[in-house]
Amino acid sequence: MRVGSKEVKDQMKNHLKSLVLTAANIEQIVEKVGVDQIMDQLIERTYNVFVEFSDQESIMPIRSGFNYTEPKVGLIEWMPIRDVTHEEILMKMVAYHPDNPKDYQLPTILSTIATYDTRTGHLKAIMDGVLPTALRTGAASAVASKLFGHPESRVLGLIGCGAQSITQLHALSRLFKFEKIMYYDSDAPTMSSFENRAAFLNLGIAFHGSSIDEIVASSDILCTATSVGVNEGPLFSNIQPKDHLHVNAVGSDFPGKIELPKALLLKSYVSPDLPEQAAIEGECQQLDAKDVGRDIISCLKMANQLEHLKQESTVFDSTGMALEDQIVADLFLLHAAEMNIGEYIYLENTNLEEKNPYSFLLKLKH
Ligand SMILES: NC(=O)c1ccc[n+]([C@@H]2O[C@H](COP(=O)([O-])OP(=O)(O)OC[C@H]3O[C@@H](n4cnc5c(N)ncnc54)[C@H](O)[C@@H]3O)[C@@H](O)[C@H]2O)c1
Repeated sequence: MRVGSKEVKDQMKNHLKSLVLTAANIEQIVEKVGVDQIMDQLIERTYNVFVEFSDQESIMPIRSGFNYTEPKVGLIEWMPIRDVTHEEILMKMVAYHPDNPKDYQLPTILSTIATYDTRTGHLKAIMDGVLPTALRTGAASAVASKLFGHPESRVLGLIGCGAQSITQLHALSRLFKFEKIMYYDSDAPTMSSFENRAAFLNLGIAFHGSSIDEIVASSDILCTATSVGVNEGPLFSNIQPKDHLHVNAVGSDFPGKIELPKALLLKSYVSPDLPEQAAIEGECQQLDAKDVGRDIISCLKMANQLEHLKQESTVFDSTGMALEDQIVADLFLLHAAEMNIGEYIYLENTNLEEKNPYSFLLKLKH
C-alpha cells in the first residue's frame, strides 16, 4: 500500500486507539504467568537483547530531567529509546522521591512507560512502570551477576531493604544457590519487615539481619539499593571483602549520590550500564575514565574472554537504561496481547479534520 493512499489512511485511523495497561493489568499478568516465570523470562530476554544490541538499530540518549529539593527532595526524569527497526520510540517517565514511603506510604520510585509510532507520533501504549522498573532492575543485576559473580556464590548481601531489594533478591536467587541472605537497612521498621516481605519467594534460605561491616566482609555477591542522600555516601569504608566479591550498585543514580567507597571501585573491574550516564550520576562519577571498564553490553558480547573476572572484584554500576524498560514493556505487551488484557481508548484527537482543530464544533452544528 502506498503512503498517502486511502487504504493506508483508513488503516491508520483504525489503529489510532492507545492501549492502556494499568497497575491492576500488570499485576494480573504477573499473577497469571507466575512471578518466577516472569522474572525468568525477563532475565533471559535481558541477556539476549543485551548480547544482540546494536546502536545502529537502537538510539538511546542518556536520560534528563528536573531535580529539586522543594517541596520535597526528588526528581522527575525522562528516559527515551528509539527502536529504528520497529519504528517506535519508548519513553519512561520516572520519579524518585525518597520521602514517599514515610510521608505518603507511596513507593520511592513511581513511573509510567509510553510507546510512540515514529511514522505518525501516535501514542501506541501507556502502562504502569512501577513494578516493571523493579523487575527489570533485578533482571539486569542478575545478568551482570551471572557474568561477573563467582559461580559458587553462597552468600548474598543486601544493603538497603526497600522496593528494589526485593526484586534484586528474587532475580539473583533464580540464578544462584544462595545459602545465606545478609541484609541491612538504616530504617528500623524496614529492616524488621524485610524477611516477611521476602517470604512469599519461598527461597528456603536463612536470612540474617547484619551490620554493613559483616555483610561486606562475608558476601560473595552484594546488592546496594539505598536512598542514601547526596554527599552522605559511601555506605562503608575500610572493610576487606572477599577477593571475588561482585557488587550490583543500584542506588547511585544522582549527581553526588554514591554508595561504594572509591578504594573498592579502584581495585575492582567496574562495568557501567550507560558509561556517559554513570559518569554523571553513577559510581563512575568517582572515577577517571581510565579506571572504568567496558559497559555491561560490551562485556556480555565478549563474555568468554572475561571468565577470569568471576574470581576477581567486580562492580556493575547500574544507573538504569531505557533499553531495560523497552525489554520489560515488550514482555508485558506480549502477555497482554495473548491474554487480551488492557483497554484500548481514544486518547488523542485523531477524528478531527487534519487541518482544522475546531472541526468537531462544525460537526456539532450539522
Ligand atoms: N539502577 C536502576 O536501574 C534503579 C532502578 C530503580 C531504583 N534505583 C535506585 O535504587 C535505590 C533504591 O530504590 P527503592 O525503590 O528500593 O527505594 P526505597 O525507598 O524503597 O528503599 C531504599 C532503602 O534504602 C534505605 N537507606 C537509605 N540510606 C541508607 C543507608 N545509608 N544505609 C542503609 N540503608 C539505607 C532506606 O531506609 C530505604 O529503606 C534508589 O536510589 C533508586 O533511585 C535504581
